[in-house]
Amino acid sequence: PKASQPYRSAYHFQPLKNWMNDPNGPMYYKGVYHFFYQYNPYGPLWGNMSWGHAISYDLVNWVQLDVALIPNDPYDINGCFSGSATILPNGEPAILYTGVDANSHQVQNLAFPKNKSDPLLNEWVKSSVNPILSPPDGVDPSMYRDPSTGWMGPDGEWRIVIGGQLDHQSGSAILYKSKDFKTWSRSPSPLHFSNKTTMWECPDFYPVVVNGKNGLDTSVRGKNIRHVLKASFNNQDCYVLGNYDPKTDQYHVDVDFMDRKGSLMYDYGRFYASKSFYDGGKKRRIVWSWVNEGDTESDAINKGWSGLQTIPRSIWLSENGEQLVQWPVKELEKLRKQKVQFENKELKGRSMIEISGITASQADVEITFSLSNLKHAELLSSDQVIDPQILCKQKNASMNGKFGPFGLLVLASNDLAEHTAVFFRVFKTSKRYQVLMCADQSRSSLRPKVDKSIYGAFLALDPRHANISLKTLIDHSIVESFGGGGLACITARVYPKLAVEEQAHLYAFNNGTQSLSISSLSAWSMNKARIVSIRRRRKPI
Ligand code: FRU
Repeated sequence: PKASQPYRSAYHFQPLKNWMNDPNGPMYYKGVYHFFYQYNPYGPLWGNMSWGHAISYDLVNWVQLDVALIPNDPYDINGCFSGSATILPNGEPAILYTGVDANSHQVQNLAFPKNKSDPLLNEWVKSSVNPILSPPDGVDPSMYRDPSTGWMGPDGEWRIVIGGQLDHQSGSAILYKSKDFKTWSRSPSPLHFSNKTTMWECPDFYPVVVNGKNGLDTSVRGKNIRHVLKASFNNQDCYVLGNYDPKTDQYHVDVDFMDRKGSLMYDYGRFYASKSFYDGGKKRRIVWSWVNEGDTESDAINKGWSGLQTIPRSIWLSENGEQLVQWPVKELEKLRKQKVQFENKELKGRSMIEISGITASQADVEITFSLSNLKHAELLSSDQVIDPQILCKQKNASMNGKFGPFGLLVLASNDLAEHTAVFFRVFKTSKRYQVLMCADQSRSSLRPKVDKSIYGAFLALDPRHANISLKTLIDHSIVESFGGGGLACITARVYPKLAVEEQAHLYAFNNGTQSLSISSLSAWSMNKARIVSIRRRRKPI
């Protein structure tokens, strides 16, 4: 790996080197957070899939332990793929994961800690009954993977879902039941499926409370509960909300995946294969996600690593019950150091303000805009549903509007030749107002061959009654943004050439004609998280 590492993150989780993808088996056990991840112990590109393992007491600072699962048994010799952890009634955690066997078939396997009284769960033992499941008829053996965390029904039986492609066309969450977590039988019908999507990877299924931010353990049943099903496909993590009847295992969804009105996503940027877990210590549900690179394979080889995780986010149902809301875990605030702050500052049309005094390449920024005279907002011509990403591309950060584009220019070079814009625009339609949130990377780097996508989402808030807020976590090559208190999230990866380290600048900007007010701004330099390794043994593959 190169000595100079301008793109390495300071407070986002990443291994010391090599390739990382999906989060696996996150859990809270005996006061310790466990995080596993798809890992290649031997290089910066995908391969030799193993389960990396790290532990933390605060979800911010991490200790890397030995690799927990390596592909060295006939039933996983071609890879220990993604999976989940479930804490069994006797208190023992179980890992269910996909193995790719000697025939390249995907099978499901179990592993248990060698010593469950060790809170670090340092060693894992694969079950002697593996594989516990092999691809059933009608399921392509290369499209059968990523078992979920289990939940228990009122009949005392466990349920899990496995991602798969049924009859060579549908994305499915194939449902299984078991009395002992070892012997599983397939339910007559999947928990849910869609003919409009490709294979579902990494399905996640869990309850959320109506009207509250607390999380629920996966098996919780009762009133005032809705269920989330998340599936990963098309480079995106989509979810549906619905009512689940644990007696019949029927799951009725409000709006389906790919429905033009719906298409709810955890994050509208670079974010894939997420997995959530219930944190019984702080009574919250937390979601992790892989954020892959937007540079090239040769860049990965030069850097010696590939892949980040998002900051773990609390996740809950919005007040109106129509979507999920996410926010970085509170513990991250421990890393904040020097702060700049102001209130009620006018941001005139076509103007910008530099936010100086903090490390702009490693920062946490919270800004709130207040708008008045909304009747002057731009008209969005029709009421037809417009793809927000297309709208962000047509009306990018340099296209003047009326209310907006306004927001932040992050990782900006001195001359602004490089900058990533995270911004809003407010539109008026015949019936209501619409707030668009965009992350525009088109000018993020002078380097060729790095991804420069423009991402977008609508923010479900009424700008007549609510200010528009933005929180952005800037960490060298990752820009993780939360609009409207977490109503829409957009994560981007950027690779500036000039705007690195101390050369990076931060601005609040308004490229609209209408003046507005920054009702508050707080920005902090962030300390580096401690991510250390205490690997003890090296198992050969
Ligand atoms: C998702 C995924 C999973 C699989 C794993 C392999 O990114 O393709 O479906 O288990 O990665 O690394």
